[in-house]
Amino acid sequence: MLVLLDQTRLPAEEVELLCTDVPCLVQAIQTLAVRGAPLLGLAGAYGIALAAARGFDVHEAARDLAGARPTAVNLAWGVQRALEAFRDAGPGQGARAALDEARRLHQEDARGSREMGRLGVELLGKLVPGGGYRVLTHCNTGALVSGGEGTAFAVVRAAHRDGELRRLWVDETRPLLQGARLTAYEAARSGMPYTLLADNAAGSLFAAGEVDAVLVGADRIAADGSVANKVGSYPLAVLARHHGVPFVVVAPVSTVDLDTPDGASIEIEQRAGDEVTGSAPPGTQAYNPAFDVTPPGLVTAIVTERGVVSPVRGDGLARMAGGDFLR
Ligand code: MRU
Repeated sequence: MLVLLDQTRLPAEEVELLCTDVPCLVQAIQTLAVRGAPLLGLAGAYGIALAAARGFDVHEAARDLAGARPTAVNLAWGVQRALEAFRDAGPGQGARAALDEARRLHQEDARGSREMGRLGVELLGKLVPGGGYRVLTHCNTGALVSGGEGTAFAVVRAAHRDGELRRLWVDETRPLLQGARLTAYEAARSGMPYTLLADNAAGSLFAAGEVDAVLVGADRIAADGSVANKVGSYPLAVLARHHGVPFVVVAPVSTVDLDTPDGASIEIEQRAGDEVTGSAPPGTQAYNPAFDVTPPGLVTAIVTERGVVSPVRGDGLARMAGGDFLR
């Protein structure tokens, strides 16, 4: 059985979701009960372990899980890692091997998160001399999506531990409010100074000179350094460039997809219109992409557990990711 924290119920209730089969997990992924790129990778791997342990068709499970959401490459990557472990195992050992691999990924993610926190805060020190950072973040990139403290949020937490976080600006993150519901929940639990804003208030915040750096995560980073992340990230990158503020992406190497050549090749998940049309007249159509793409030229740096790529260019990214992306 897979025990998941149902993120759709936060922050009002901390409710566990128990999955004993793959359709349950696929639904949890599609409804965003389980979400965020690194966690999707872990969910994919544990899903394969669950299918193997319960005697389900593991290849069918792999197809269903990997196809549950299209944009975060970590999902297919986690599925693939556990599937390979299952296949490579000796007779009768597949389920054990898949579970061991899922646990290995979980630990790797925690270690990677620590490294991203350390490297990211070191980078902040160079980009924003004098400390006392006022950081703007979008969506949710913390412990809720990770075996550790997350990606961009791990950097925020490291800055807070160092006594250098003056303010965390939390974008509400329309339409599903991952910022208001989840990042604010994590910030409050960590005792950080944080302030929530409607996404469309970010422009006036930059104009007032209140933002020193933008830190966001990523769902897929293409070979040319284009970054797909929660919709609303690209406008922040444009604002950051206009106001001379660094825009930094923090993500594990498993988010880098060297097989996707550029931003235009990244499949962007389109979600149901009713996530947006709640207050509109009946029959209103909605444009509701879950992600947008920021071109590499607007990204100051990409921080992974292996190092920092800056300026963001395909050659630097390929060197960092190495030839062993799937291993
Ligand atoms: O639709 P979601 O909530 O799964 O989108 C999540 C994001 O866009 C995150 O910013 C991204 O996965 C990075 S999480 C470390």
